[in-house]
Amino acid sequence: MAPQISPSILSADFANLGADVERIADAADWVHVDVMDNHFVPNLTLGLPIVQALLKTSRLPLDCHLMIEDPDRWAPQYAEAGAGSVTIHAEAAKAPIRTLRAIRAAGARAGLGVNPATPVDGFEDLLGEIDMLLLMTVEPGFGGQSFLDVVLPKVRRARELIKGRDLPVWLQVDGGVSAETIERCAEAGADVFVAGSAVYNASDPDEAVRRLRAQAEAATAKADWAR
Ligand code: DX5
Ligand code: ZN
Repeated sequence: MAPQISPSILSADFANLGADVERIADAADWVHVDVMDNHFVPNLTLGLPIVQALLKTSRLPLDCHLMIEDPDRWAPQYAEAGAGSVTIHAEAAKAPIRTLRAIRAAGARAGLGVNPATPVDGFEDLLGEIDMLLLMTVEPGFGGQSFLDVVLPKVRRARELIKGRDLPVWLQVDGGVSAETIERCAEAGADVFVAGSAVYNASDPDEAVRRLRAQAEAATAKADWAR
């Protein structure tokens, strides 16, 4: 699959979210929406009512990343509301298979996310239940943090696991993805790139997305895993 860019609105202007989504709508593939409940992560952002409002105005599908303590309870509702993709965290879900199946049954892509210190190897048998694996490349909770290079070997291993199973699972990296780091991520095996501050701190967010995409495409073209 060609690289996809999913800008995170965590770095957008929360008082003008609709307009800020429009600033990436020509160039991006998705809008990455970080839902935080102040329990799973030490930050509070937005929830279902704001996602429902964004769904009414956004030209792009929503990629909802649930950093919440009880995804089993909430995730299916994001899918039923019309989100294109809903990602739950492996560290939080108590019944991940049931919840992932409920997300898919509601018509959304099902994502499984893991924090930087959580190994992916234990989730190999779940790959058939998911459409996307999200590897956090910062500790979740805040935008603008430095990329954790220590996660790159896990990106490689995750790509090997996906290739080994021959499944169409997308591999997303989230956190600290920028012009400085996106090529390393693509080379290691990522094909969906979340970027918050790198996009929204730019004067022209659509142009920032185009540049990131060009870098990801060039790095993927040279990568062994993509052959
Ligand atoms: C962090 C969020 C990320 C964050 C990325 O917990 O999941 O999506 O917004 O922001 P940057 O790209 O600034 O690291
Ligand atoms: Zn995120």
